[in-house]
Amino acid sequence: MHLSSRPRSAGAGLEVPAVTAPANPGRTLPGNRGAAVPRDVASRIAALREAIAGHDHRYYVLDDPAVPDHEYDTLMRELEGLEAERPDLVTADSPTQRVGATPAASFAEVVHRVPMLSLANAFDDDDVRAFDRRIRERLSEGEGGKAFTVEYTGEAKIDGVAISLVYEHGRLVRGATRGDGARGEDVTANVRTIKAIPLRLLGGAGPAWLEVRGEIFMPRAGFERMNEAQRARGGRTYVNPRNAAAGALRQLDSAVTATRPLRMYCHGVGLASDDAALPHRHSDVLDALAGWGLPISPHTRVLAGVEACLAYHADLGRRRDSLGYDIDGVVFKLNDLRAREIVGQVSRAPRWAVACKYPAQEALTRLVGIDVQVGRTGILTPVARLDPVVVGGATVTNATLHNQDEIDRKDVRVGDTVWVRRAGDVIPEVIRVVPERRPETAERFRLPGRCPVCGSEAVRAEGEVAVRCTGGLVCPAQRKQAIRHFASRRALDVEGLGEKLVDQLVERAMVSTVADVFGLGEEALAGLDRMGEKSARNLVESIDRARRTTLDRFLYALGIR
Ligand code: IVH
Repeated sequence: MHLSSRPRSAGAGLEVPAVTAPANPGRTLPGNRGAAVPRDVASRIAALREAIAGHDHRYYVLDDPAVPDHEYDTLMRELEGLEAERPDLVTADSPTQRVGATPAASFAEVVHRVPMLSLANAFDDDDVRAFDRRIRERLSEGEGGKAFTVEYTGEAKIDGVAISLVYEHGRLVRGATRGDGARGEDVTANVRTIKAIPLRLLGGAGPAWLEVRGEIFMPRAGFERMNEAQRARGGRTYVNPRNAAAGALRQLDSAVTATRPLRMYCHGVGLASDDAALPHRHSDVLDALAGWGLPISPHTRVLAGVEACLAYHADLGRRRDSLGYDIDGVVFKLNDLRAREIVGQVSRAPRWAVACKYPAQEALTRLVGIDVQVGRTGILTPVARLDPVVVGGATVTNATLHNQDEIDRKDVRVGDTVWVRRAGDVIPEVIRVVPERRPETAERFRLPGRCPVCGSEAVRAEGEVAVRCTGGLVCPAQRKQAIRHFASRRALDVEGLGEKLVDQLVERAMVSTVADVFGLGEEALAGLDRMGEKSARNLVESIDRARRTTLDRFLYALGIR
């Protein structure tokens, strides 16, 4: 999805050619309603392709879109039109050709010319210091063990699926999974649908052979949206973004992959022909890849010495939840590629790199009960009560079970041992049970037929997964939520009208609809728990301010289903 937005920076030296005004008006093509097009259709097609590839790069790689959606769509439609008229001019690297025509029956095997290695793990600061010490020892052999500082790169260890991409003369010719490191699967048709991956490298012909390696992943927001959509239509959901990315990459029908919100970051080169003339520092290689239009993580840093590495690990750990995608640690790599050869590797992992993990975002605990919460629109949500467990660095005691269908699909029972996931600011959820640990006393759960708050009938509408309380604003739970929503920051932004206060107002029957908020007076408010005269006055003032608002805020505040 292209969202309209002004460019935030000048970009990375990429000029998107202006193709809205043809430089060379010529004959009129059918279907163009008399508009002038260049005499040379081939050059027009080339210009459109370059412009679209440039926009994809700005949007998916630089995170810096240059044009609104509709302009992009217009270019795409024009290109599709011209290619329909001139099928002889269609090439594999045209942006219209990202989705393959026919689903595959299976994936062919690919032998990696250079094996795809794995990484050794460091579990604490001492392990990282030991890693640095070993490298310094190996590099200083014969130099009398002099103290010196080694330069590393610090990179996010993205929790996705490893990928190998081969470009021949700048054209993407193959995408392969890691497999066992020696042999993987040919998923070219699927990687071609990922718009962060250029079908052609920027800036000329490109080297004869370039194999880049990286990680394909699914951002959390896209993952949540995809699972919600699947849930709503009763389709298959995935337990975490990594599984979802792996599933998307192994679809036999690339049209399905194309609908999945996949991204990619490159983290190195497998093998390159000499004409690639790659630099001798890893960080410079990454810059070269970025120059070819390949996506590189913006969080990669050059770090001088092990203490800088430890600081990087701590810093990225603090920012982990705000990245928008899952990382399971950081990777430190010796930056000097020639020094890497001296340091060498052990069986399947290099000695020049180490992964330093973060606390897991999934954990095992026991589900001790299921509560039912009633939401603003009356939806009954089953919520698991858990034995407290630390997940992603925070203690979790509740997790959503979404709805009855999800409980049934995962076969969650009270007493089960379950996997709980908490990543970013997403609400913790129960993702699966461990059937082997189910006690005989474990009990199935069914949502009640009546609202647990107001006793009204709770029904499931045809074609919906949600069960709703039919009480409307008669239901105190719905009333409380409606008023909370009405006063919330993005709605009328009534400062001081918080959760506890709304509960009191509803319980004491001081408000029954959102309109009643405007009838609240200072004296009545001052009599409430934890309210003094001053806070009552402040609240009345902020309610007064909310009388004048914008139409969009007002409509949003009403919370119409
Ligand atoms: S370097 C020899 N860098 O982690 C070095 N790997 O446990 C091989 N990964 O299969 C990989 N982010 O898929 C490297 N910045 C990063 C990474 C990264 C994620 C994955 C990669 C690899 C696995 C190794």
